[in-house]
Amino acid sequence: MTASFPPPFLTGERVFLRLPEAGDGAMLLKFHQRNEAFLAPYDPPRPRGFWTEDFWELYVQQSQEQFAAGSSCRCLVLSRDTPGMLWGKVNLSQISRGPFHACIMGYAVDEAMEGQGIMREAVSLVIEYTFHTLRLHRIMANYLPTNERSGGLLRRLGFSVEGYARDYLYIHGAWRDHILTSLVNPHWSGDIWQ
Ligand SMILES: CC(C)(COP(=O)(O)OP(=O)(O)OC[C@H]1O[C@@H](n2cnc3c(N)ncnc32)[C@H](O)[C@@H]1OP(=O)(O)O)[C@@H](O)C(=O)NCCC(=O)NCCS
Repeated sequence: MTASFPPPFLTGERVFLRLPEAGDGAMLLKFHQRNEAFLAPYDPPRPRGFWTEDFWELYVQQSQEQFAAGSSCRCLVLSRDTPGMLWGKVNLSQISRGPFHACIMGYAVDEAMEGQGIMREAVSLVIEYTFHTLRLHRIMANYLPTNERSGGLLRRLGFSVEGYARDYLYIHGAWRDHILTSLVNPHWSGDIWQ
């Protein structure tokens, strides 16, 4: 099944969310350059070419293809007042349909914008979109036990802890345990095959 169109253009009080578009490569590269040290403890090792604009233009193209195929939804979190100011990203990946109807969510905010409720605003919009437009039943989000900020964000948004996975992801140079959480759509209805 392909994802619902139109693609997400979500607007909050301070943020504006959309899919990556051709020409966003430079902005994405700069976001990762200025947050290199900040994000390193939470991310996998960088793939080849990561620090080039070409890599990010390919990311844009793949994001659009995957969205059209219904397998991912990568949202850029932009300032509503300052166009072109990238504050973060919220990604839905591994979108699964049929009896599962679920996805995995990841996110990151610009270090300079941390602790201002930006991610809470952005993730709330994405949850609403995921449940009502993408019509998924479950959003899963997992975090390092030391990442209290991420745990706090998920707790405030209603996510429940479901388990503890040992050596779950290869992050910052090693296999690391994660706390597994999810949020279920209590109002889901419809046909699991559509
Ligand atoms: C985890 C992460 C996304 C949280 O981002 P964030 O924008 O700080 O998160 P929130 O939106 O929940 O902000 C909450 C904080 O803003 C404060 N805040 C200020 N103004 C606010 C407002 N208008 N509304 C809500 N909260 C506000 C809250 O008091 C809270 O502060 P506290 O954390 O000191 O208690 C961010 O720390 C990050 O990107 N970390 C690195 C990458 C990462 O960990 N990714 C997730 C991997 S699982």
